[in-house]
Amino acid sequence: MMEWTDRHCRAFHRVLTRQSLLYTEMITTGAVLRGDRARLLAFSADEHPVAVQLGGSDPGALAQSARICSDLGYDEINLNVGCPSDRVRDGRFGACLMAEPALVGECVAAMKAAVAIPVTVKCRIGIDNQDPEASLDTLTRAVVTAGVDALIVHARKAWLDGLSPKENRDIPPLDYDRVYRLKRAHPQLEISINGGIASVEDAARHLAHVDGVMIGRAAYQEPWRLLAVDPLVHGVAPPHVSPRAALEAYFPYVERELARGTRLHAMTRHILGLFHGVPGARAFRRHIAINAVKPGAGIAVLRDALAQVMDARTDLAHIAA
Ligand SMILES: Cc1cc2nc3c(=O)[nH]c(=O)nc-3n(C[C@H](O)[C@H](O)[C@H](O)COP(=O)(O)O)c2cc1C
Repeated sequence: MMEWTDRHCRAFHRVLTRQSLLYTEMITTGAVLRGDRARLLAFSADEHPVAVQLGGSDPGALAQSARICSDLGYDEINLNVGCPSDRVRDGRFGACLMAEPALVGECVAAMKAAVAIPVTVKCRIGIDNQDPEASLDTLTRAVVTAGVDALIVHARKAWLDGLSPKENRDIPPLDYDRVYRLKRAHPQLEISINGGIASVEDAARHLAHVDGVMIGRAAYQEPWRLLAVDPLVHGVAPPHVSPRAALEAYFPYVERELARGTRLHAMTRHILGLFHGVPGARAFRRHIAINAVKPGAGIAVLRDALAQVMDARTDLAHIAA
């Protein structure tokens, strides 16, 4: 999620779930091909499996970018056909590509020819005045013909005229049934659903209808929920018994990054929701907010923040609540 997630966030989410596939925020082909690649695309081995999401609509540039990302070790290439921002639209990519299914098909085919790892697409059910029955079917047919390995559908339209990107994540109504119907029409295609899924329990219910669930805001804002993914969705033990234990398991990563010169705040900004609803959570957040930004802030800030949390309740009973 642009502006929110980064590799430190993914390394943190990985201590909460070993099984989930993690995605980067959208990175444009221009940035991949001409930007500071080390900064934009670097990731730690801890993050696997990790997909990189590309933004673009030039098949050649996408193929070249996909090859670079595959060579760097990403596990999947995902094409963004869902972002409604003006900037993206001016570049003729993101959600406006819902109106150009043949071009999306060409993009997928070019990337498939360039890499051996899965190539997937994240899209909306339609844009503006499109009929979602037709728009989603047409796009799906185009990418299936091109050999797409999976589709992730944000189950609402994007209104490119009149709504801001933020409004486009909340105002157009969710239509989960449209995605379920798509799955029934394409039983061989791996289809994941996205949009407004607020808990892992809700995610598990969607899995009766589709193959996968993508969670955005809930995962970021209340990361403790991710501890329930491995047991509830994959039927295996969680990586750690509590949010506290998971955070302690993140410490070695934090210490490694501090030693490389990463600021503590760059990592702690992603963990603020970890103890949501637990006594002491506010003191935890406050301690981090005040101290993690100070020059030279080190791991002691995190340890001291953790000492504020009264987390007798943060075992898995809390997670299931
Ligand atoms: C701050 C922010 C940035 C986002 N950036 C991206 C992005 O880079 N690529 C993408 O496919 N979706 C992006 N999204 C959309 C989410 O991936 C997701 O589709 C949307 O928020 C609905 O799912 P949710 O209700 O689980 O959050 C972003 C959402 C937010 C809140």
